[in-house]
Amino acid sequence: MKIRVLGAAAGGGFPQWNCNAPLSRSVRHLQPGFLPRTQSSIAASSDSENWAVFNASPDIRQQIGATPDLQPRQDGPLRSTPIRSVVLTNADVDHIAGLLTLREKEPFTLYATRRVLDTLAANSIFNVLDPAFVDRRELPLEGLTELEGPDGPIGLSIESFLVPGKVALFLENEGETGFGTKEGDTVGLAIRTSPTTPQKKTLFYVPGCALVENDLTQRLSGGGCLMFDGTVFEDDEMAQTGVGTKTGARMGHISMSGENGSLEAFRETPLKRRIYIHINNTNPVLDPASEQAGTVRKAGWEIAYDGMELEL
Ligand code: MLT
Ligand code: MN
Repeated sequence: MKIRVLGAAAGGGFPQWNCNAPLSRSVRHLQPGFLPRTQSSIAASSDSENWAVFNASPDIRQQIGATPDLQPRQDGPLRSTPIRSVVLTNADVDHIAGLLTLREKEPFTLYATRRVLDTLAANSIFNVLDPAFVDRRELPLEGLTELEGPDGPIGLSIESFLVPGKVALFLENEGETGFGTKEGDTVGLAIRTSPTTPQKKTLFYVPGCALVENDLTQRLSGGGCLMFDGTVFEDDEMAQTGVGTKTGARMGHISMSGENGSLEAFRETPLKRRIYIHINNTNPVLDPASEQAGTVRKAGWEIAYDGMELEL
């Protein structure tokens, strides 16, 4: 199975269009060591011919442009794509806005939980995905799905599982507990070539997660590869940077550091590789020379970048 990171940044990207804080400024001016990153998405394939895209970021047009595997074949039909399936892990803008780019009467299969499908259905702009071409299918909150494209199975099997998260920002309701967060707002995925693929060849993709509990570390304890929510290093780093007041927790994202952070939570979890993805433009690990990047690397974590490839 081949994995490509299409976009390693969180919503906003790196640099974010309106951000003039030191990290965004450094990457905008291409200071040594700084890598621009587009918004949150990966792609996977078992045969290099048929691809699934996980999360459709607002940058998907640019991401396809940077990834020959996802472009129409030179000898292919006049209109075509190797993207057979698109899978969503939540309804955040950085994960669904790219669906609008995937219009143009191209057949593919779209997978999301009932909660996320309902959000798409309630926003009529997504009708640009003509149902005659785009088949919307429900992902279970817990269970296996063999991914299919318009011509049948594509050789990828995913297991979806609930993770603690938050309702999409644009759906927040101040009057409800958790701003209206409900079951099915956020899932994680185990991606493999078949349900019997050994754990060691499994990619766990969890770009959004508010809290790591024992059931999650147990699920991941088979020596596979993990791509995990790397939004913030410290819970209050937006306030520390002076760019905002929201904490990671308020946004539904666990921090890397701290006793309840992901570095600590996964310290003992047997994993072949551990990779942070969905990295916010305030996260100091985006500066490879920072102390925090050193801490993360010393704990065995990699920091995803656009174009990163994995072979499992
Ligand atoms: C998130 O991951 O918290 C969201 O993408 C934030 C946003 O909607 O910008
Ligand atoms: Mn996001």
